[in-house]
Amino acid sequence: MPELIHHIGFLVADLESAIGQWEKATGYRFSDIGRYRTDTYADDSVPHPHPHDARISFSKEGPPYIELMEFHGEGTHSASQGEGIHHLGFMDHPDVEGRRRDLEAAGMRCNGIALDGDGKTLLWFTDRDDLHGVRLEFVSPVPQPIVRDDGSPAHRDGRGFPSLWPVEPPV
Ligand SMILES: [Fe+2]
Repeated sequence: MPELIHHIGFLVADLESAIGQWEKATGYRFSDIGRYRTDTYADDSVPHPHPHDARISFSKEGPPYIELMEFHGEGTHSASQGEGIHHLGFMDHPDVEGRRRDLEAAGMRCNGIALDGDGKTLLWFTDRDDLHGVRLEFVSPVPQPIVRDDGSPAHRDGRGFPSLWPVEPPV
């Protein structure tokens, strides 16, 4: 059974404005703004690990959830990419590195990868030129470097991992 699409990521120029528009358009609720902040992101704009600090917000409703990401940096998340669909996200993927090997063998290159301190893959993106203008994102089932917009610690999910949402109280 293949993994199913968890979310659709969009690049936007102005995150606050985009959240308001997407709330109106869909009726979905969106999280407070957070940041995916790491010093070990690499893509074809800067192939060695470098800082990446993307402002993001996720919808409460889904799957598929909507992820809004503000333009950032010079590479895969930059304004030069234009607004619109950026990636289809597969969360908590059990074998992100195996998936990378398999897809590279099938001609879908990696362009955009975040590593942990041990060099293991936190997440990676396929190159949009290799799949009809859309990237796939594979996210490992480990704590991801998410902080609140002001840099303070994020909420924690039920696993204790950083999260854009607080744990839901039991109903
Ligand atoms: Fe994503």
